[in-house]
Amino acid sequence: MTLRISVIGIGYLGAVHAASMAELGHEVIGLDVDRDRVAALQAGHAPFHEPGFDELLQRGLDSGRLRFTSDYAELADADVHFLGLGTPQLADGMGADLGHLRSAIASLTEVLPARGGAPTLVVGKSTVPAGTSRELAATLEQVDGARLMWNPEFLREGFAVQDTLVPDRLVYGVPSGDEQDERVAMLDAVYAPILERGVTRLVMGYEAAELVKASANAFLATKISFINAVAEMCEATGADVTDVSRALGMDDRIGAKFLRAGLGFGGGCLPKDIRAFLASAEDHGVGDALGFLREVDAVNGRRRTRMVALAEETLGGLEGRRITVLGAAFKPDSDDVRDSPALEVASRLRAAGARVTVTDPEALRTAQRRIPGLCTVPDTQDALRDAELVLLLTEWREYRDLDPVATADLVASPRIIDGRAVLDPQAWREAGWEFRALGRPDSEAPEAPQNPGSSEGPVSSDEAITPGRVLSPSGVRVPA
Ligand code: UDX
Repeated sequence: MTLRISVIGIGYLGAVHAASMAELGHEVIGLDVDRDRVAALQAGHAPFHEPGFDELLQRGLDSGRLRFTSDYAELADADVHFLGLGTPQLADGMGADLGHLRSAIASLTEVLPARGGAPTLVVGKSTVPAGTSRELAATLEQVDGARLMWNPEFLREGFAVQDTLVPDRLVYGVPSGDEQDERVAMLDAVYAPILERGVTRLVMGYEAAELVKASANAFLATKISFINAVAEMCEATGADVTDVSRALGMDDRIGAKFLRAGLGFGGGCLPKDIRAFLASAEDHGVGDALGFLREVDAVNGRRRTRMVALAEETLGGLEGRRITVLGAAFKPDSDDVRDSPALEVASRLRAAGARVTVTDPEALRTAQRRIPGLCTVPDTQDALRDAELVLLLTEWREYRDLDPVATADLVASPRIIDGRAVLDPQAWREAGWEFRALGRPDSEAPEAPQNPGSSEGPVSSDEAITPGRVLSPSGVRVPA
């Protein structure tokens, strides 16, 4: 059955959702208040890098089933409206800013009465604090025929099309969690081709649906910070975190995914979502229950600090030193630099006086928009030329595949720090590189100093020297 669908908010989530709904055979109109974005999408230009999206967008436009607008009046005859608006972190706090969502609901409420009371489903996809759906429904459902449900989106950047068309599961939040709720059949009609592929759909109450999304992201962030906390222990004891992680991941109960140690998580979701989850728990009087998320955030932040400290330690100072940073995106296969660990490290090194060159296969335009004046070089070889230190901070395939022998010929001094634990230390060392990595031991086991009590070395501001441990001359902690 072909339905008339609108998608309000055509950022990452919304644009992919709109094109995917057209792919399923529906007639789709995407709306955004950003006219440039609307014009770009209407002209077939994806405003972001996402594998498979350009083709999907073009197919939708060519079929005549997909178009874009900035005018709410054009949404009046849609049967189903999806809300794909962003819920960024509040400028003055940790909570989620629901401003875009609320103003979209207000604009939608003005055009819905034109339906004359015909059943109209509004489906929230944004990540919101528990309680938001019930509150928004109270306003929206005053319009005759309008019904709200919450259907959180779990798509990953880089896999957005696949995650939308073949999701692990579909979560439907309705007021009482009742499977017979009229909203369920309406959304089933939208997703019929997906459900026919055997994807499980779970019906639950509004708050549970909201909490599934918040908890999923909190769990993933916690898993990453867990292994990064272990990486700190590895650095302190001389163990290799990739050994620990590989063995841990073989336990079915733990699983190997999201157990990659390194520079930690960034992006437009995990960092702000764990903070919003914590803020929401505090609002509900159970802040202690999620207090550990503060530590998850802190561990994540410390990896960035540690990388800057390692760079400084490796070069013996940063002022005027030529550093090439491989990667600007918050993860490979994306041009998104929101809260990118790589870009933050690059920016801190610049602030400390280093001459930083950043390269990335896709994210240099977005990086420059975020940090005007940043020195960017698109070609990897050019970017590496004359570097005194190379930092691998986003694990694009191209960087993982770098040949240590050929690369050594390009740089001024063969020194590299692997911030994602993806390179083979032995191969790089054999090619003459001074190779260091987050969570992995340095080549030569550091010698214990003669007089441990008086040992001092470079240490970042947030690293306390624990009793019974000392710093080696290179700053690596070793057992006393
Ligand atoms: C995330 C969730 O995965 C997705 O379900 C949700 O809808 C939106 O937020 P995304 O932001 O696209 O998706 O990125 P994700 O693949 O989850 O990676 C997040 C960050 O964690 C990246 O910076 C990545 O480099 C880092 N990461 C991931 C690690 O440091 N180690 C890992 O093992 C995995």
